[in-house]
Parts: sequence; C-alpha cells; structure tokens
Amino acid sequence: MEDFYRAFPKAELHRHLEGSLRLKTMLDIARAHGITIPFGTGPLSSLVQVQGGEPFTYQNFLAKFNTLRMFYRSPEVIYRVTREAVEDAARDNVRYLELRFTPVALSRAERFPLHDVMDWVCGSARKAAQEFNIQVALIASVNRHESVELAEQVAWLAAERRECGILGLDLAGNEADFPAEPFLGVFREAKQAGLRLTIHAGEWGGAENVRAAVETLGAERIGHGVRVLEDPSVVRMAREHKTVFEVCVTSNYQSGVVKSLADHPLMRMLSAGLIVTLATDDPSISQITLSDEYRRACEDLGMPQETLKQCTLAAVEASFLPQFEKEKLAAKFRKELAL
Ligand code: ADE
Ligand code: ZN
Repeated sequence: MEDFYRAFPKAELHRHLEGSLRLKTMLDIARAHGITIPFGTGPLSSLVQVQGGEPFTYQNFLAKFNTLRMFYRSPEVIYRVTREAVEDAARDNVRYLELRFTPVALSRAERFPLHDVMDWVCGSARKAAQEFNIQVALIASVNRHESVELAEQVAWLAAERRECGILGLDLAGNEADFPAEPFLGVFREAKQAGLRLTIHAGEWGGAENVRAAVETLGAERIGHGVRVLEDPSVVRMAREHKTVFEVCVTSNYQSGVVKSLADHPLMRMLSAGLIVTLATDDPSISQITLSDEYRRACEDLGMPQETLKQCTLAAVEASFLPQFEKEKLAAKFRKELAL
C-alpha cells in the first residue's frame, strides 16, 4: 500500500529553489566546475545540509546558503537545479507548487545579469512542469541583507515576467538583524505593478514583524509567522486580514525558532483561528519532503489527518494564481479530497 502522506495530493506555497538542490547534483557541479570544499570542513553535506550534531541556530541555517551560492556556475546548472526541484516536488505528489528563487543569489558567482537568471528559471520551470505534470508558479525572493536598490531591480524584472509565471515577491533572509521597513517602497510598487506579496516574518523576529509585514508592507501571506502567538493583538489583526501563514515545521526546529518539535505552535495557530498551510522551506537543507512535513504535523504534533485537507485547500485558496485558474485548481482539489 502506498504511504498515506505521499499519496495525499499536496499543494505547497513556500519552497526555496536554493534550498532544493540534490546533493548528488551539487557533487556533479563541484566536479565539473572544479569547486573545492574548504579543507577541514568535512564532507559537502555538512556545509549544505543541517546535521544532527550542530547547534540549531538561524546563523548555522543561513550559512548553508553561503556555500550553496558557489554552485550557480552556468545557465545549464541553473536550468538543471530548477528542473530537478520541480521533478522532486512532482514525485512527492505535490500537484501545485509555488517555487521561490533568489535572482541575486543565483547571479552572484558568475555575475550573470539578473534578467538572464530569471529567464532561465522561468524557462526551466515551465518545461519541467509540463514534463512532470505539476502546476508551478514562481515567486522572486529578495534578501533583507542586500541593498534596497537590488531589491527594486528584482521587483521590476519580476513584474515584467508575470506572463512567464512570476506571480509574487518575497522578502527573506536574516530577520533577526535586518528590518523590513527599508523595503517598504519596493513592496508598495511591486503590489501596484501586480505582484502578490509574501514576507518571511515572525520567524527569527517577534510578532511585531508580522504586524509590520501585513499592515505596513502589505503582505497577504507570511512565511512562518509562528511567533505571531506572542501578541494576541497581532493574532487578531492576522485573523481580520485573513493573513495566510506558510508554516514549515522542520525548518523552524532546525533554525532554532522552537526548542523542540513538541514546542511547535502549529496546533495553537489553528486553534487561534489562523489560516495555516504546510510547507518545506528548504527540502534539501532539511532533508525532507512535503510528505514528511504532513506526516510530522499529524504524527508528532497531533494534527488530525482530516485537518490536512483543510491546510491543503487553504494553500490552494491562498495561491497567487489568477482567480479563474485558482478556482479551477481548487475545484480539482475539492473533488480529490472529497470536500
Ligand atoms: N531563506 C531560505 N530559508 C529561509 C528561512 N527559513 N528564513 C528566511 N530566509 C530563508
Ligand atoms: Zn523560507
């Protein structure tokens, strides 16, 4: 019998391309491009995937992306990692994926023009979606520690590529040390240009960051947001705005947001009447699939299996697809989930 969680038709709103590289592919790229692993740091896996023995901190988590940035050496590499990220989701029975990617990170090693990198990801994602029979939309991510000027460039290039499937803009990176407010103008203009907005907040920063992301920057969805529960007034605000939370349980544990899995507030967020969806964040860094996260929610955090249907449909209904396409997709999911 096929595993229940793998067979479950899934939808995911929060997965980073840069956190989705297969280890085998990284080894191929390292060999082909002469990338050497710094002496004394151990195997590649210890640099790009969370290890059991290391302290679970946001610093260690974010450090993986610094190593990963060395791998984007050619258009073919970017094409391949995008294709494989889509393939891996499809093989896990993810039917709808919003894949986010960070053009600045992908362009850095070889100084590729941002617009080229974005076109490569768009082209590869579109082709892979057809090949592996999965619906894919893209979100462009900008990091808090990069300049506002770069964020503005990415936002404009993304807005010009809505026809190619870039539907949204995301703010990611180090929330502990970099505020979102400098990006206010960029996010306002992006919204005016038709991009939908999601922001990482309430992960490595407090509930006030969730309020700022929603009320000031205009985010419809919040990446993580699990610390929203620290302030009941922000919980009320999120309920009133129908803010959608993209919750990534394993990532939260491995990046030090919660001390133990048992402490994860997923069930308390649901009880508080918040709209919750489940996602992987960085499946390769965490060595997980979305099925693993569905299983973890039910078997470790006590979510009834019936509630998986609610979270899955919430993801579909909060997707950044145009209304007509979203309704078609939601109808398919409702039918298959017998809702
Ligand atoms: N980029 C990739 N994963 C992230 C996370 N969990 N938080 C912020 N930025 C990220
Ligand atoms: Zn994320």
